[in-house]
Amino acid sequence: MAVIGTDIGRAEEELKSGRLIAIPTETVYGLAGNAFDPGAIAKVFEVKARPFFDPLIVHTASLERVKTLVDDIPGLAETLAEKFWPGPITLLLKKRSVIPDLATSGMDTVAVRIPRQPLTLELLERLDFPLVAPSANPFGYISPTTAAHVNDQLGDKIDYILDGGACEVGLESTIVGFDQDQRPIIYRFGGTSQEQIEQMAGKVKVMPHSSSNPKAPGMLKSHYAPRIPLTLGDIETSLQEVRNRDKVGIISFRSYFDTVPRENQVRLAPDGQLDTAAKQLFSALRDMDTKDIDMILAEPVPAHGLGLAINDRLRRAAAK
Ligand code: TXA
Ligand code: MG
Repeated sequence: MAVIGTDIGRAEEELKSGRLIAIPTETVYGLAGNAFDPGAIAKVFEVKARPFFDPLIVHTASLERVKTLVDDIPGLAETLAEKFWPGPITLLLKKRSVIPDLATSGMDTVAVRIPRQPLTLELLERLDFPLVAPSANPFGYISPTTAAHVNDQLGDKIDYILDGGACEVGLESTIVGFDQDQRPIIYRFGGTSQEQIEQMAGKVKVMPHSSSNPKAPGMLKSHYAPRIPLTLGDIETSLQEVRNRDKVGIISFRSYFDTVPRENQVRLAPDGQLDTAAKQLFSALRDMDTKDIDMILAEPVPAHGLGLAINDRLRRAAAK
C-alpha cells in the first residue's frame, strides 16, 4: 500500500526522480508524472492499463506557463482560461514540441488545465516541469475522489498519495476544444457547466460522446463503470420487474424507496443540489460495488448545470 500524506516536499522528490504519485485536484485524484519525461509518461499508461491511443491532460500552475507549452491560444480560449482557471476546465490547444508525442497520443493538440486544489497548485508551482495526470483509476473504472479510493486500486503500484481530502467538485473537468473558426466545442461535460461557458463564449457546440469519436477516447461509451450492472431510468418502474428487492442497490437523486433495504440505497443529494450530487456520485458508485446486490438502479438527475455531466457519467456507467 502507498503512504498517504500531505508532504509536498516528498511529492516533489518522487516526481523529480521520475516516479509517479497520486495528486488531489478539485475534480478527481490524478495519477501524476513529469510531463517532459517520456519514461514517466509511459509508466502512467502502464499503471492505469490505459491504451496508448488515449491522450493525457497536462497540468500546470499558471497561464504564463501554459503559454510555454502551446502555440497561438485562440481569443476565446484565453477568455475561458482567465475566467475559469484555476478550475475544472481543460482546453485543447496546439502543442509545442516540449510536450512529448506520447502524452498526446501523437495528436497535434495538448489538453491542458490549471487545477484549483491548494496542495497540488503549490506542488505545481514548485516544480520546473508540468504534470501529466489522468484520473487515478484503472482504465474504464470509476474515478477516485478520495486518497483511500486511489489506495484501494493503485496502492501497490505507487509509493505516495498526496492527500487533499474529498474532492471539492467530484466530477472530471469539462473538455473544450476549438474548431477551425476558433469556436469552442465541448467534448466532455464536467465540472464547469455549459451555461457557465456560454456566458463567457456565447453558444458552444457539443460533440456528444460516441465510441466513433476518437478525438477524445475518454468519451468511450462504456466508462466509469462499476462491476455490478447498472440500469439507468425511472427507479419505480424498474422496481416493478424485480422479484427480490433485497438484492437491489439504488442510487437516487434525493429520495429513499420504501421497498428496498435502506443500507442498499444512496441518495446523491438529499438537499436537491446538483453540486452535492456531483460530489457524491463516484463514491456512491464505488460503494455499490461493495454490497451484496445483483443490480444497481439509478435515476437521472435534473438535466441542467452539473446535471448534464452527472447524467453523462451515469449513462456511461450503465453502458455495456
Ligand atoms: O478533471 C480531470 O480532467 C482529471 C484530473 C486528474 O485533472 N483528469 C482526467 O483525465 O479526467 P483522464 O485522462 O481520465 O481524461 C482525460 C480525457 C480523456 O478522455 C482523453 O481522451 C482526453 O481527455 N484528451 C486528452 N488529450 C486530448 C487531446 N489532445 N484531444 C482530445 N482529447 C484529449
Ligand atoms: Mg479518466
